[in-house]
Amino acid sequence: MSRKRHYLWWQRGVVYQIYPRSFQDSNGDGVGDLPGIVQRLDYLRWLGVDAIWISPIYPSPMKDFGYDVADYRGIHPLFGSLDDFDRLTAEAHARGLKVILDFVPNHSSDQHAWFRESRASRDSAKRDWYLWRDPARNGGPPNNWLSNFGGPAWTFDEATGQYYYHAFLPEQPDLNWRNPEVVAAMLDVLRFWLERGVDGFRVDVIWHLIKDAHFRDNPENPEWTPGSHPFQAVLPVYTADRPEVHEVIAEMRRVFDEYEERVLIGEIYLPLERLVTYYGQNGSGAHLPFNFQLVLAPWDARHIAALIEEYEHALPPGGWPNWVLGNHDNHRIATRVGTAQARVAAMLLLTLRGTPTLYYGDEIGMRDVDIPPERIQDPFEKNVPGKGLGRDPERTPMQWDGSAGAGFSTAEPWLPLSVDYRAVNVEAERDDPSSMLSLNRRLLALRRGSPALEVGGFEPLEAEGDVLAYVRRAEDGAEAFLVALNLGSTAHRLDAAALAGVVAVSTHLDREGERVGGQIRLRPDEGLVIRLDP
Ligand code: NOJ
Repeated sequence: MSRKRHYLWWQRGVVYQIYPRSFQDSNGDGVGDLPGIVQRLDYLRWLGVDAIWISPIYPSPMKDFGYDVADYRGIHPLFGSLDDFDRLTAEAHARGLKVILDFVPNHSSDQHAWFRESRASRDSAKRDWYLWRDPARNGGPPNNWLSNFGGPAWTFDEATGQYYYHAFLPEQPDLNWRNPEVVAAMLDVLRFWLERGVDGFRVDVIWHLIKDAHFRDNPENPEWTPGSHPFQAVLPVYTADRPEVHEVIAEMRRVFDEYEERVLIGEIYLPLERLVTYYGQNGSGAHLPFNFQLVLAPWDARHIAALIEEYEHALPPGGWPNWVLGNHDNHRIATRVGTAQARVAAMLLLTLRGTPTLYYGDEIGMRDVDIPPERIQDPFEKNVPGKGLGRDPERTPMQWDGSAGAGFSTAEPWLPLSVDYRAVNVEAERDDPSSMLSLNRRLLALRRGSPALEVGGFEPLEAEGDVLAYVRRAEDGAEAFLVALNLGSTAHRLDAAALAGVVAVSTHLDREGERVGGQIRLRPDEGLVIRLDP
């Protein structure tokens, strides 16, 4: 007798990322907030996602827009209060939506009480909670480590005569995760929110938590050219992905395991063979080490086919796959690949094996917004200008309708609205069956409850040129879909030999219901999800 495997919500479900500053403003200050998110929960339910991940909402001086946390147990007044948060969680749960928060353990704000105490004197009880070092012999920084946001990763503190390390802004000092008191304090933070009913965390730069114990210089990057990203001048050998980080993650994971079905998602930008080590040994790592392959890959069918197979093969036993197409740190998919291919990309994201994460606004085809110089907010763009590194373009307000503030706010929003928002918005798209929003909704509806698409196996199909094709099949074989995607702008045929069925969802709508089989015709920029004959 075969026993059916039990799958958890974060394996079956689809995660939707909310950048809270830009989702919905409820109090007319031009910045999104928690009551605003509550107002839009019915939309998310209607759309058909299962969980929301909300980027940081904690008290913060907002030097890095919330990724500089001044109090891990509060809510920034801009976003609301703890009561608002509890209401959000209750309202989300009432609609069957899970709530995932962002946990930022690598660094705090320099305004956090811990850092203020740490910097107060060399013998402060919290001195060792951060990474303090004496100057090098010449008085300069202790080593050659660089900040991800440009410039040195060390800032000198005049009062105490030492440098402190920050992987990001000087206002984001790195915590010392080798100190057991720090570990204990941060694990308590996790419990604080888990007790409040949070269903999981996305853990910021989790592969950065531990740095070399000997503070050795990073090796120079032989491939770096002046003019490219300054941070890449050295290779982060001693500043990230250190072997001891897995012990720390295992401790975090134990806290998650004290509660029912909570998910630990790790933000990790590493090559595949390193990424999969973050599943840990015997369930000691992240449930979902974020897989950014589709964000980073060239939009090329052969390349993507190869990376999907590489990923499928690299996964450890029991490791559940996941896919990300966009987030608040990368250019939007519709800008990267164009409007037509963004539809194909949505079909790919929602039919691959594993948990998809959808970035707010991508479901309606939002594009990067040009930010005039005087409106630039992102410190990354300010530090390293003109290289396209700034992240404001993908963080602009959600486009809800065609009214003056796009339904986002009655005030001037913190970042400008897209010029095309009167055409590209939820209201305009919701009743238009050919819209990007309708396509996403149909894909989500098809996926929901489908044993093939939610948790079924993945079988690559041989294809050529721009065509990417695979079959998703339910464990018991009762249901199967052929996904055929044309990643190019010329027509193609897919030789699907013995396979035949009916188009369940198509990017171009007009083919839904069509019987196809054998040689499958794909128009330019077309994708088909075909329900195969039993
Ligand atoms: C990764 C976050 O996604 C990004 O937005 C932030 O700037 C850095 N970590 C630093 O926290």
